[in-house]
Amino acid sequence: MATTTATDYTQGFRSLEQEIEVDRLEVAGELPAWLEGTLLRTGPARYEHGDLTVNHWFDGLAMLHKFGFSGGDVSYASRFLQSRAYRRSQETGRLSYSEFATDPCRSIFARTMALFHPQVTDNGNVNVARLGDRFLALTETPVPVAFDPETLETLGVDQRAPGHITTAHPHGDRDSGELLNYVTRLGPRSTYVLYGVAQDGVQRQIARLPVQQPSYMHSFALTERSIVLAEFPLVVRFGQLATGKSFMASFAWRPERGTSFLVVDRADGSVRGRWRGPPLFAFHHVNAFEQDGRLVLDLCAYEDDAIVRELLLDGLRNGTAQIPDATLRRCTIDLAGSGGVTVETVSEVPFELPRINYGAVNGRPYRYAYGAARRPGAGPHEWISRLTKLDVGDGSDLGWSADGCYPGEPVFVAAPTRAAEDDGVCLSVVLDAHRGTSFLLVLDATTFEELARAEVPHAIPYGFHGQFQRTG
Ligand code: CO
Repeated sequence: MATTTATDYTQGFRSLEQEIEVDRLEVAGELPAWLEGTLLRTGPARYEHGDLTVNHWFDGLAMLHKFGFSGGDVSYASRFLQSRAYRRSQETGRLSYSEFATDPCRSIFARTMALFHPQVTDNGNVNVARLGDRFLALTETPVPVAFDPETLETLGVDQRAPGHITTAHPHGDRDSGELLNYVTRLGPRSTYVLYGVAQDGVQRQIARLPVQQPSYMHSFALTERSIVLAEFPLVVRFGQLATGKSFMASFAWRPERGTSFLVVDRADGSVRGRWRGPPLFAFHHVNAFEQDGRLVLDLCAYEDDAIVRELLLDGLRNGTAQIPDATLRRCTIDLAGSGGVTVETVSEVPFELPRINYGAVNGRPYRYAYGAARRPGAGPHEWISRLTKLDVGDGSDLGWSADGCYPGEPVFVAAPTRAAEDDGVCLSVVLDAHRGTSFLLVLDATTFEELARAEVPHAIPYGFHGQFQRTG
């Protein structure tokens, strides 16, 4: 049993009931004059439904967070996403929708096919995305929920994707603004459907790929020519889902399968090939690109699927979780020759929740990635405590950490001058466990030194992902 104190990381897994709106946070330091816009984030904020506490970090009810940057000031607002899942919980005091690792108690007759029921969860606690002028809160069911980026008011379920399981990490086409994603249609014969949604909401199918046992893939990769699915050997068992098991309980780790890299041409949906590499697990792709007949794909990779179970809420709340470290692995696929797949570790420094200068380098050769993970040499029961800037060319890194501080995903925002790939800032919500409050940290993305921080009056529960929207 780990010993925990009042200043440890577990504070970030408490529920937050309070929705607030603050016009001006107290700012220490100086914000760059060009930083004008809004950081929109989502994450779990409430874990209880009456007497029931959900099982997993991924199961908490979504809260939206908004940091506004204008004229050197920072505003903050938070609101629960008024999803159907949230409203039912408010009305009944009970969990009514099946989440990642928690199922509502149903009668034996109703305990089937939770994912196939029309009432699949719309608890968009993983990521936010912009499609045209609509803003969407996303989770891994294909039920995006639209919200107003000014008021954080929920507008309702947006157009659904054609399947059962998707990712909250769609890619954006640089030229058209189309969002690209895949969705798994589950059944005795499952398929991956690759599809695009144009800014006006029109969906088009890019490819339909039959799969015997679909993989659990939290994200995927895009190059300028291809969509790449890395099929980790963590498989989703349809039979288990069909008998009413939670999504997580349907997973099985099958390392003997290795990892399959499925490369699909974006132009016509044809399969360019499938290459097999060693067994790995990852939530997050960092970037991918094609060069000299090779496809290079960078992942935050784990040895196995243990991380999925270590993020169960009990262990995170009592400090006994043993969080494995992901590291940035570079998978190189020899597209033209017979070299297969090689995997190398770019840096031993733990690396997760990756961000890049997306607009400039996604799908292209690049040099810098920014992430949040445990500090190097962290003990078994420590939490995410360091922001890292990684030079994926030579493996060198810069870090930011502070005593008792637990940072989240560093969102890179490019400076308008775009002088260099790393010309910009990183924005991260950090829990200061000594003070029991969170702050929004602004780092110079070139030097990784602190430029400013804006103090939030309470602790913000650890969230997952967000996006910066420039003003105008
Ligand atoms: Co994610």
